[in-house]
Amino acid sequence: MTSTDSGQTAPAKAPAKDPWDLPDVSELVVGVLGGTGPQGKGLAYRLARAGQKVIIGSRVADRARAAAEELGHGVEGADNAETARRSDLVIVAVPWDGHGKTLEALREELAGKLVVDCVNPLGFDKSGAYALKPEEGSAAEQAAALLPDSRVTAAFHHLSAVLLQDPEIEQIDTDVMVLGEVRADVEIVQALAGRIPGMRGIFAGRLRNAHQVESLVANLISVNRRYKAHAGLRLTDV
Ligand SMILES: NC(=O)c1ccc[n+]([C@@H]2O[C@H](COP(=O)([O-])OP(=O)(O)OC[C@H]3O[C@@H](n4cnc5c(N)ncnc54)[C@H](OP(=O)(O)O)[C@@H]3O)[C@@H](O)[C@H]2O)c1
Repeated sequence: MTSTDSGQTAPAKAPAKDPWDLPDVSELVVGVLGGTGPQGKGLAYRLARAGQKVIIGSRVADRARAAAEELGHGVEGADNAETARRSDLVIVAVPWDGHGKTLEALREELAGKLVVDCVNPLGFDKSGAYALKPEEGSAAEQAAALLPDSRVTAAFHHLSAVLLQDPEIEQIDTDVMVLGEVRADVEIVQALAGRIPGMRGIFAGRLRNAHQVESLVANLISVNRRYKAHAGLRLTDV
């Protein structure tokens, strides 16, 4: 107890929580919707290689099973609905074009699940990539609007699928910005990113600030084209 100006005693403040004190997520089953594409396969490969149980989803179960077999490390394949049903945490890795429809159709399967959206709404023309402005503000906010019974977060936007899928690369040297409304959910996703050697998951705000995180990928694509690179992000002084 501490003494206040009025002489009353107030309860002592709990010490601030260490932001790097993250939960153990090693037992969570991770599903990846659209897991047959480069981003989904890359994330599945890295997480499974780090010891996570991973199921990749597809619109066509056989396609997912074939991709899972290629990936090894115990990865399983199923259709998107079964993937959502069997997973604790579900990464959304479908193209922006199919985002709304896919999530709408899986509302029941995704109820209660921790959903991690990594979709970047981008357009391309002859000048390169540019950010689209979704009606809801961002892909993540669209997910939150379509999935009122799920716990929606956003992360993994700035990764290079090429690097993720390259078995010769031991460490993925990058930070992952994690956004969400509920601290415990964000911390689970931060911890999941931290399972991949070289990666840190860093809290980066609420979903209303997801648009600029998603949009930044247009800039990274410009960097990659000019420098023939697979650029990622590091946040300094954190
Ligand atoms: N590629 C990257 O480096 C990268 C990095 C960070 C974030 N992302 C984001 O991750 C997402 C996936 O990227 P990607 O490059 O892996 O994309 P992709 O190859 O175009 O799509 C991924 C998978 O989604 C499924 N799919 C395709 N069209 C669909 C539709 N209309 N509705 C539902 N599912 C559909 C396909 O699987 P089935 O045919 O088997 O169903 C496809 O293999 C994108 O939103 C992207 O912005 C990508």
